[in-house]
Amino acid sequence: MSDSDRIKWDAHYRGRPCRALAEPNPLLAEWLPRLQIDSASPLAADVACGSGRHALYLARHGWRVDAMDISAVALEGLAAAARAESLDVTCLLSDFEPVPPATIPPFEPGRYDLAVVMRYTNLPLIGKLAGAIRPGGYLIAEAYLKTAEPDSGPRDPAYRVAPGEFEAVAAREFDIVACREGIATGRGGQPAAVVQVIARRPG
Ligand SMILES: C[S@@+](CC[C@H](N)C(=O)[O-])C[C@H]1O[C@@H](n2cnc3c(N)ncnc32)[C@H](O)[C@@H]1O
Repeated sequence: MSDSDRIKWDAHYRGRPCRALAEPNPLLAEWLPRLQIDSASPLAADVACGSGRHALYLARHGWRVDAMDISAVALEGLAAAARAESLDVTCLLSDFEPVPPATIPPFEPGRYDLAVVMRYTNLPLIGKLAGAIRPGGYLIAEAYLKTAEPDSGPRDPAYRVAPGEFEAVAAREFDIVACREGIATGRGGQPAAVVQVIARRPG
């Protein structure tokens, strides 16, 4: 367990009301209607979900969601928001560092139709997560990009990926549907350099 991360993120979410009304990343809103999903009751993983803006968005659109984060405080707020709307969101306290083996729950092989990983940088996890996405299932991800320009992303370069790096890692396990590197709206509405990837499991 990354104790310092857990303490840091619990402090971040403590005292903040769950952002149940927070807008999802526009990337998810843009791509969700374009996914080819066969299941009548599809299941998504919201990895490092935080207060759960993407889990709630997906559940409001008829998805079942496993929402995972290291912060129990964030998950408590999300669980309460999901209960209030009778949404199908299962909150799972999870630590992805070190990266868990692909076989432990909830990363059973082929479990998910979609995994969402927004603004949580953990490249080794992408490879492990791939096995938990069924053939034909999707990854939608956004990560902060290393840049020489000041932006609103994290100062620690460990939380950023180099240009081309995320796409190269994803391409080992997925077909890349779309990849963009550029400026998006970050914290406080300020610009942030990001990479956005839509990828699909072959098969
Ligand atoms: C920048 S926030 C992004 C939250 C959410 N994905 C979003 O876009 O609103 C990063 C999240 O990663 C979570 N996190 C950090 N380290 C983690 C770890 N080792 N395992 C699981 N979650 C972690 C934090 O608690 C935090 O909620």
